[in-house]
Amino acid sequence: MQKKTYCTERKSATTIYFSSDKNYFHELVGDKRIAIISSKNILKSYPEIFHGENTIFINDDESQKNLATVNEIISWLLQLGIDRHSYIVGIGGGIVCDITGFVSHIYMRGIRFGLIPTTLLAMSDAAIGGKNGVNFGENKNMIGSFDNPDFIIADSSFVQTLSQEQYMSGLGEIIKYALIGNEKILNLLQDNQAKILDRNNEIISKLVEESILTKTEIVENDPLDTSIRHILNFGHTIGHSIELTENLPHGIAVVKGMNASVDISLKMEILKSDKAKYIKQLLTSFGYDISYNLGEKHIELLCHDKKKDDSQIRFVLLEDIGKPIIKKMSLEQITALIG
Ligand SMILES: NC(=O)c1ccc[n+]([C@@H]2O[C@H](COP(=O)([O-])OP(=O)(O)OC[C@H]3O[C@@H](n4cnc5c(N)ncnc54)[C@H](O)[C@@H]3O)[C@@H](O)[C@H]2O)c1
Repeated sequence: MQKKTYCTERKSATTIYFSSDKNYFHELVGDKRIAIISSKNILKSYPEIFHGENTIFINDDESQKNLATVNEIISWLLQLGIDRHSYIVGIGGGIVCDITGFVSHIYMRGIRFGLIPTTLLAMSDAAIGGKNGVNFGENKNMIGSFDNPDFIIADSSFVQTLSQEQYMSGLGEIIKYALIGNEKILNLLQDNQAKILDRNNEIISKLVEESILTKTEIVENDPLDTSIRHILNFGHTIGHSIELTENLPHGIAVVKGMNASVDISLKMEILKSDKAKYIKQLLTSFGYDISYNLGEKHIELLCHDKKKDDSQIRFVLLEDIGKPIIKKMSLEQITALIG
C-alpha cells in the first residue's frame, strides 16, 4: 500500500495511508479500545463502516462546531470509560476532523487519534497539518490546538456521495494548490477537466495525493503557522469574509477570494495580465462563479480577521502562476484595490 509519513516539531509523526479499505483503521488501532466520532450523514451513506463500535454520530453542521458539542462528546467518552490507552477515530468531513482533533488533544490531557476524512476538502486539506478546533460564537476556529493524528486514511472513493456543492468546494482548495505552486495539479486540471467534473476516481486520487504532498511539505517547514504556511491562505482572507457573509461552502468562497487576490495582484502590477486571464479562465472553465461584490460586512470581517497583525493584514498575492508572495497590507489599501 502506498503511504507517506510526515513529522512536525510537536508530538509524533503522522502516517497517511492511501487506501479504499473502509475497515483498514481496525488494523492500525490494533486491540486498543476505540471510540469513533462521526456524523449522521456518514452513517446514512456508509452504514457498512460501523460494526457496533462505540460511536457518537454528531450533527456536523457548522453551527454545531462548538464547545457544546465538545462537552457532549467528552461526557460520552467519560461514560464509556475511554482512557489514555484508548484510541479516538474521527470519520467525516472537516468539521468532524477538527472536532476529533481538538477533543483528542484535551481529553485527559491528550489521547491518540486517527482521522478518516470523507470530503474532498477534508482529505486534501482540513485533516492534514494538525490544526484542530471549534468556533466560538461568530469567531471561526477560535478555540483549538495544534496536534497531529497518528494516522490519516485518505480514501478518495468517499467523494462519490458528496453533494455537487461539497465536491466543488473541495476542488476549489485543490485548485489553490495548483496556483501556489503544484505544477502536477495544474497539469492534471488542464488535461482532465471532463473526468474531474465526472468524479473519475483515478484522477481524483492523484489530485488528493498531490494536494497532501504540497500541504505536508509546507506544514513540515512551518508546523505552528508562523511563516511559509501563510501561503496556504491564498484566497482565504477575502474568501473567509465571503463564506461568512454569503453562507457559501468554504472552498467555493475561496475560489472567489482567489479571484479577488488575482485582481489585487494585477492592480498592483505584480501579476501580468495574461497570467491573470489564464487563472480566471481556469476557474470559470470548472463552472465556478468567480464574481464577488464586497460590502461593509465583508470589510468588517476583514478587520477582525485573525491574520490581521499590527493593523496590517498578511495578504497572499501571486507574482506568477505557482509563485505566491505574502504582503502586509493595510485594510485601506486592500479596500481601495477591490473597491
Ligand atoms: N483544520 C484545518 O486546517 C481546516 C482547513 C480547512 C477547513 N477546515 C474546516 O473544515 C470544515 C469544512 O469541512 P468540509 O468542507 O469537509 O465540510 P463538512 O465537514 O462541513 O461536511 C459537509 C457536509 O458533507 C457531509 N459529508 C461528509 N462526508 C460525506 C460523504 N462522503 N458523502 C456525503 N456527505 C458527506 C457532512 O455530513 C456535511 O453535511 C470547516 O469547519 C472548516 O473550518 C479546517
